[in-house]
Amino acid sequence: MGKKSREIVEVDLKELIADLNRAYCDEWLAFYAWNYMAIAVEGMGYEDMSEFLGKIAKDELEHATELAERIIELGGLPINTLGAVEKGGNEPYPGVMKNLSDYKEIIKIVTTAEAGAIDVYNKIAKKTFGKDHDTYQLACHIMGEEIGHEETFENLLEKK
Ligand SMILES: [Fe+2]
Ligand SMILES: [Fe+2]
Repeated sequence: MGKKSREIVEVDLKELIADLNRAYCDEWLAFYAWNYMAIAVEGMGYEDMSEFLGKIAKDELEHATELAERIIELGGLPINTLGAVEKGGNEPYPGVMKNLSDYKEIIKIVTTAEAGAIDVYNKIAKKTFGKDHDTYQLACHIMGEEIGHEETFENLLEKK
């Protein structure tokens, strides 16, 4: 990112980069757990559950990439070791279901983490509104997808 593009950012850059790095860690942890569950899920109708999980896992990986790109644009560096990723999120690793066919537990794990993510991006959007247009747009874009994830899994719960 050039000098002028950094100058127009009216938030504390160090603090913003730290916020984005925490979100970056959350995204990797979510990707890991959702992807694991997509592969490991068993039981009746597991193909649908696997497809839903696989789809949102892909979104989280995309979010991690978008956040990393923005961190670099702002002059920072994304967290660069997996150990630090595990410890660096807003929330601890969401984990995976203990019983591979326990859909209720899967849905609970996902909806809890997605609700947390919505909070995180809502805060980043509020902090950057009118002060850092690009980060604001990114936060709104990611938040929109997290809202979609929460809704998809809440709907599954209501049907069961
Ligand atoms: Fe995400
Ligand atoms: Fe999500």
